Amino acid sequence: MNVGIDLGTTNTVCATLENGKFKLIPLEGKNTILPSAVYYSAIGGVLVGNKALKRKAANPDNCITSAKTFMGDDNKVWHIDNKTFTPTDVATEILKVVYQACQTNEPITATITVPAYFTSKQNEATKKAAHDAGFIVNEILPEPIAAAIAYGDNSNQTILVVDLGGGTFDVSVVKTRGDNYITLAKEGDAQLGGDDFDRVMLDIFLSNIFSLTGVPANTLSRLEDKAIKTKIALSEFDEQQVNIHNIPPFTVTKSQFEAKSKHLIHKIQTTVNKVKHMDIDKIVLVGGAANLPFVRDLIRNTFNQEPYSNANLATLVAKGAALKSGLEQLRAGAIVQDITAHSLGIITNGNVFTCLIPKGTQIPASRSNIFTTTYDYQTAIKIEIYEGESEVATDNKYYGEFVLSDIQKAKAGSPDIEITFEINTGHLLTVSAQDINTNSEDSVILKV
Ligand SMILES: Nc1ncnc2c1ncn2[C@@H]1O[C@H](COP(=O)(O)OP(=O)(O)OP(=O)(O)O)[C@@H](O)[C@H]1O
Ligand SMILES: [Mg+2]
Repeated sequence: MNVGIDLGTTNTVCATLENGKFKLIPLEGKNTILPSAVYYSAIGGVLVGNKALKRKAANPDNCITSAKTFMGDDNKVWHIDNKTFTPTDVATEILKVVYQACQTNEPITATITVPAYFTSKQNEATKKAAHDAGFIVNEILPEPIAAAIAYGDNSNQTILVVDLGGGTFDVSVVKTRGDNYITLAKEGDAQLGGDDFDRVMLDIFLSNIFSLTGVPANTLSRLEDKAIKTKIALSEFDEQQVNIHNIPPFTVTKSQFEAKSKHLIHKIQTTVNKVKHMDIDKIVLVGGAANLPFVRDLIRNTFNQEPYSNANLATLVAKGAALKSGLEQLRAGAIVQDITAHSLGIITNGNVFTCLIPKGTQIPASRSNIFTTTYDYQTAIKIEIYEGESEVATDNKYYGEFVLSDIQKAKAGSPDIEITFEINTGHLLTVSAQDINTNSEDSVILKV
């Protein structure tokens, strides 16, 4: 069996092709959209989806939501009842439920979507979660490409996909030529999404409640649910009355919400401005938070054209992933030509980031550079790999490291050490280093 999975910050969706026809898999009862929430009970049980959210109110510390925003972050763990959980553990629990819901004894091959702006490490963590849940991971597919495939318009066009989900913001320019999908540009913010607008709404609530009752904000921290509902309602109505037990009702207006969201709107504008100069035939909006009217307005005004959006915003990405994996079994399938989302390089003297493969490089790619030693008679060199756009290496995301030993003993600056970064179409990065004079060689395989 072949499936496509959109492992979202807020919601997870799984789709398949059955006799060539697209089908959503029910993940919780009849629901095809599973909230990406995991509840760890004190006695060791695990609940996922709405079942987890239901327990959240009584026991908020045992329920993890939006774990995807921490994917690939080695420093992030949750401590619950003396146990420790990583973002990959949480994703694995969600994906185990998806695996069970597929109801088959056959092996399940999955195409999992990730934000285009994810770092290599985040992609790798996602892949591990799917593997640990039992899937054979066929491919990690950028969400905007999946959306472009799902739109099914394989005429020759340049499409701008703007995806504002629960926790991530992706902007990609994808050129379609029949069944070929070529990424021309990728921008985004892996930490911007509907969750941030929820926090804005919560702040509006708390300042209203404080001015009405004088109750300090920290005693009223469990209003998130109401804040989310009010945010969603304001996508449709100009104002919304908020009724909370024991507190006089108050009204939040759309313009008040927009004004308080200025900093987020500014971030969105800065990101879309980076692709503003490109020739775009069509704009496709994806993600629940793209329903926010001021987000639509911003996109419309920036590109001077009406964005195209589908009623099935929530299932579009999973559909694209299912089509991509399913079609491959039927015929040649869609061909995706991707680019790197971030620059890849190494740390050199003085914490300088020396880039070997710049952001936006078409995959596959291979780049080499000659480096040398810093000290006299240095016989080993540590190669530390970073990913990002800062000139200060440690401001970027650390990726991995290895040591090249047996370097020719010589004065500093005389050995020639060739470092090569090579990425294949499967997003696999191999970094190798060789002392050209001694032929000593070492390499490490990483995924990007
Ligand atoms: N009508 C609406 N107006 C405003 N926000 C909405 C609306 N509907 C859903 N949202 C918000 O959209 C977000 C969820 O969107 P979506 O399901 O696309 O995210 P996701 O795919 O789980 O996340 P991501 O793609 O970032 O990993 C939530 O923050 C939700 O509150
Ligand atoms: Mg999404």
